Amino acid sequence: MKKLFLVANWKSNKTVGEAESWIEEIKNLKVEGRNSEVVLCPPFTLLYPLKKLIADYKLPITLGAQDVSPFPDGAYTGEVSARMLRDLEVKFVIIGHSERRKYFKEDDQTLTNKVKETLDAGLTPIFCVQDKTTPVPDGVKIIAYEPIFAIGTGTAETPEKSNETAGDFKELIGKDLIVLYGGSVTHENAGDFCRQQNINGVLVGGASLDPVKFSQIIYHAAQI
Ligand code: PGA
Repeated sequence: MKKLFLVANWKSNKTVGEAESWIEEIKNLKVEGRNSEVVLCPPFTLLYPLKKLIADYKLPITLGAQDVSPFPDGAYTGEVSARMLRDLEVKFVIIGHSERRKYFKEDDQTLTNKVKETLDAGLTPIFCVQDKTTPVPDGVKIIAYEPIFAIGTGTAETPEKSNETAGDFKELIGKDLIVLYGGSVTHENAGDFCRQQNINGVLVGGASLDPVKFSQIIYHAAQI
């Protein structure tokens, strides 16, 4: 049975109180699936309180970050280094999301540096690619295929087309590459993506903000 990664990307949403409410709701819902790893990527401000809540309630949730500094610790005002993330028990880092590329002008070199910092700290990058032309830095083992038109629009790519693109990336990078799909994932389509041969899970934005919707995604993925 293939392993699935069900990744929640909260983007720039939720206060500490709102994150606590999300956990209070989801802790009563079944989050364990079949061979699934649930990864929650909140804003930096929520990593510490969530780490404590996940430990207190012994929830089967792994923490991820949405970004990381392209530099090590040092005089880089405003940045959060990979070492700091590791200290908070973060295991995954989303790198190269199209919103970071668009609004923060992150270029290929910056993204390569972020991947290097992440790997050096012993964390796993989840590298976002927009299409087949997106360069993937060395050492990346998990990518998320997120076509721009599908992000936050309610119009997902078809599972079949995503499977095809995932296959192309595997051919290019290696058959062990793990490919996730992201872009307008809902509880209605999550299972269809996870069922594709070349796809090992989903990266969920909007639908992950609601604990009920996100746990339905986990539930549907567990059925395949
Ligand atoms: P969406 O976002 O699920 O809201 O489309 C996905 C993403 O940007 O990772």
